[in-house]
Amino acid sequence: MHKFPQAFLWGAATSAHQVEGQNIYNDWWQAEQGHFLKEASHSACKHYELYAEDFAIAKQLNHNCHRFSIEWSRIEPSEGNFQPLEIEHYRKIIADLKSKGIEPIVTLHHFTNPIWFSQKGGWAKFKLQRYFLRFVDKIVREFAGQVKFWITINEPLVYSSHAYLLGAWPPGECSLFKTAKVTLNLAQAHIKAYRIIHKIYRQKALARPMVSIAANLQAFEICQPTLKNKLAAYLRNKLYNFYFIDTLLRAKTLDYIGINYYGRNLVDARSWRIRDLLLRTCQDNHYPLRKNSLGWDIYPEGLFKLLITAKRYNLPVLITENGICTEDDDLRWDYIREHLEQLQRAIGGGVRVLGYIYWSLIDNFEWDKGFAPRFGLVHVDYQNYKRTIKASAMKLAEVFKSGEI
Ligand code: GAL
Repeated sequence: MHKFPQAFLWGAATSAHQVEGQNIYNDWWQAEQGHFLKEASHSACKHYELYAEDFAIAKQLNHNCHRFSIEWSRIEPSEGNFQPLEIEHYRKIIADLKSKGIEPIVTLHHFTNPIWFSQKGGWAKFKLQRYFLRFVDKIVREFAGQVKFWITINEPLVYSSHAYLLGAWPPGECSLFKTAKVTLNLAQAHIKAYRIIHKIYRQKALARPMVSIAANLQAFEICQPTLKNKLAAYLRNKLYNFYFIDTLLRAKTLDYIGINYYGRNLVDARSWRIRDLLLRTCQDNHYPLRKNSLGWDIYPEGLFKLLITAKRYNLPVLITENGICTEDDDLRWDYIREHLEQLQRAIGGGVRVLGYIYWSLIDNFEWDKGFAPRFGLVHVDYQNYKRTIKASAMKLAEVFKSGEI
């Protein structure tokens, strides 16, 4: 038995578009109306209406923090037209969490953009960052007194690569040049947002906030020890895992490192072509691992290895997402338990960890994959929106209560 640190943050995450429903003013909703995506989000989990019920479940499961995102397109459905009623909605959400003793951890950008912003050119245009920064300024002024933890941008590289390189997410582009531009734009937006947030806290004489991004880190393991694979793994680690974090750290704009970790990427670069070096993964089933329902490799040890690598930053880390989509709830529990064991191992190795946030509190809309993948601790029946707590959630609740695994 190992104890986690005192005041450890224990909770689960959601994002607005994946759970709220009827986010009709964002670019995902717009894309869902065409033939580009296989499923539309519709009412999602009706969390916009049912949030208090969901947070009551989180409380019952001993969560002491909850990560969620504020939907920019609700707050500003058309340019400059801020909606006081929607701001009130999120104020109620934060108040409800706090009344239940649950610390809000607020994400400001989680993959979606207002339609008007994307029509102007979205993140592919540097000069448009100012719109996001104006939204950040507005929201942070509203909620500074209630919120300590902010995440400016969720998984910037997942966003830029899926939306601008792989063409899988709106706006569906396939351009390496634009991917690089969007990534840089997001980095600049974070750096400026970080400064805005800190300035507001200083002006209001509030205690320093904790501001970061949620970085998606993958365990890049090589399939065969060839030179190509070694170079490919080095590049992926450097560019995909650490480039963004390094850039933000040079600007001194991270108070902790938010890490989203899911599993292994088995590097198999068969040629020197850039696409192979950066993207090709092994499809043969040697070195087989257990998989989630989307076929991603389960690799708890990868979390330990990445955390030990991140030790060099000398900053605390927060696991802002870790989770599995599966119909097999025993496998979900094994996944969680084994990742918590690796987390414990990293803490033993000297990594400062602030908390563990499971993805996700409830089953939800998994972007281009639709509703089939079920990541939730709580099952959602999409016919009647009934919530049912899974056995794995109860086991995790025991860990959250005792603080040991
Ligand atoms: C992350 C993302 C979440 C969720 C999760 C599971 O990349 O931040 O929105 O979809 O993956 O795939």
